[in-house]
Amino acid sequence: TEIYNIAIDGPAGAGKSTIARSVAEKLHFVYVDTGAMYRAMALHFLRMGITPTDEAAISQATKDVKVTISYENGEQQVILNGENVSGLIRTGEVSDMASATSVYMPVREKLVELQKELARKENVIMDGRDIGTCVLPDADLKIYLTASSRVRAKRRFAQLKDNQGEFTLEDIEKDIIERDNRDMNREHSPLKQAEDAILLDSSSLPKKMVEERILELFLERK
Ligand code: C5P
Repeated sequence: TEIYNIAIDGPAGAGKSTIARSVAEKLHFVYVDTGAMYRAMALHFLRMGITPTDEAAISQATKDVKVTISYENGEQQVILNGENVSGLIRTGEVSDMASATSVYMPVREKLVELQKELARKENVIMDGRDIGTCVLPDADLKIYLTASSRVRAKRRFAQLKDNQGEFTLEDIEKDIIERDNRDMNREHSPLKQAEDAILLDSSSLPKKMVEERILELFLERK
């Protein structure tokens, strides 16, 4: 039987994970969140007290670490050296470290290998920054999902309701722009739209419509 792969790339906060998760549910595909893998690696580097500029230490630590995923009630869990760290990777500290350390080739190679292997075995919808360009160049459908930095900052702000006091919308937008710049301008596998990817902008389109469009596009191609 044929295996189908869908790639979704785009900047932080464009709605990739929510949309990919729900498309996966409709198609009975496995949703693979690759950002969670970079976050688990980052948590490991933080725990080891490694500075994000210390490339040698990061390369060595990457060799010694094991990151895998599993599924619990359909939700992806990320496992770091046997420990389920899914609940520990959504902090600002881990976000910053993931963004800073995803620039290194050894880190990327290790995770890309795992991602390719997952996509060979199962129908997946995978989201990240380099899925259409590097991880799954032959994906059946590639989407580049974006939104204005202001819209993405507003969404992030709403998610942070609990401790909104600490940050202003401007702080969050600045942080988002900084992370985008780092992802788009790095040497290895920068974030960019693959030539054969379809551009969707979620600033003006409600999530439901983005989702329907992706389903439609996939069914046309399959
Ligand atoms: O998507 P998420 O915000 O969880 O990703 C965390 C960081 O991991 C991103 O800022 C990006 O630098 C990196 N990343 C990447 N390639 C991917 C997925 C994430 O470089 N495929």
